Amino acid sequence: MIRHLTRDDDLTPGEQAEVLALAAELKRTRHTDAAPTPLRAANGVPRAVAVLFDKPSTRTRVSFSVGVAELGGYPLVIDAGSSQLGRGEPVEDTTRVLDRQVSAIVWRTFGQDRLETMAATSRVPVVNALTDDFHPCQILADLQTVIERRGSLAGRSLTYLGDGANNMAHSYLLGGATAGMHVRIGSPEGYQPAPDVLKRAAEIAAETGGSVQWTADAAAAADGADVLVTDTWVSMGQEDEYDARVAPFLPYALDQAAVDRAADDVVVLHCLPAYRGKEIAADVIDGPRSAVWDEAENRLHAQKALLVWLLERSG
Ligand code: CP
Ligand code: NVA
Repeated sequence: MIRHLTRDDDLTPGEQAEVLALAAELKRTRHTDAAPTPLRAANGVPRAVAVLFDKPSTRTRVSFSVGVAELGGYPLVIDAGSSQLGRGEPVEDTTRVLDRQVSAIVWRTFGQDRLETMAATSRVPVVNALTDDFHPCQILADLQTVIERRGSLAGRSLTYLGDGANNMAHSYLLGGATAGMHVRIGSPEGYQPAPDVLKRAAEIAAETGGSVQWTADAAAAADGADVLVTDTWVSMGQEDEYDARVAPFLPYALDQAAVDRAADDVVVLHCLPAYRGKEIAADVIDGPRSAVWDEAENRLHAQKALLVWLLERSG
């Protein structure tokens, strides 16, 4: 069976823990003789991993490119504007061409359905590098960062303030519940998480001992939180809605008042890019509780671990 990561709940709690443990090990052994090179073929030739972008990216592009190279492989980075996929070639056809030549496909695109079509077609692992609905690679890096700062995940509370309907909110719900965390989403009415995602996250939480909750009360959401996170109020593809979107989110900014309501040792995260003075205050993202640069670095380690794990299980 070929394993994919199309959304956070493609990994069971035990599998998520395995990937996170491997991520820590790969970080520790980076640049040493112990670092694995599963993407190097027996004859020394690098195997390729396709990394496709239908939307802009800095962190995902860099971390997958560097990560594939560090695993002994060759990252084949393709932007929509320079591929036939971007001109409307069917997803299935592109997938059939790629999976005969590459060892895995990483794709950032718009519709989750497109990504799932690719996964259903592909004979190599497919990884979601962000869709409109989910960003599971980011959540693995975020969970790795929380483990580094706090030692464990289960039972800790994670509060997300901002657009509760976007990819990051959805992935925190599924990925956080999988880790046994208490995930609270604080967002305005009209920007709530998708009901099916909230329901699925609640089912997972019931198994792991975590919980999930949505509230429009930003202050209550932040109370006592072990982890405070936010994301842009205007996701990629929503640029035309900029003016309409800012006002409703102003009470949900991750500012010093929110930090003061959280636990004394709260860990502040942001997937980046950040908009200081909008969803996060400059003195918070650049302040002592912020772990955002470790979080950004951990994209590399978490994704290397994910690729190693998926390739091992897709034999
Ligand atoms: N956080 C994140 O995915 O960043 P990029 O859009 O720069 O890849
Ligand atoms: N929600 C943001 C995440 C960026 C990494 C977006 O989709 O643009």
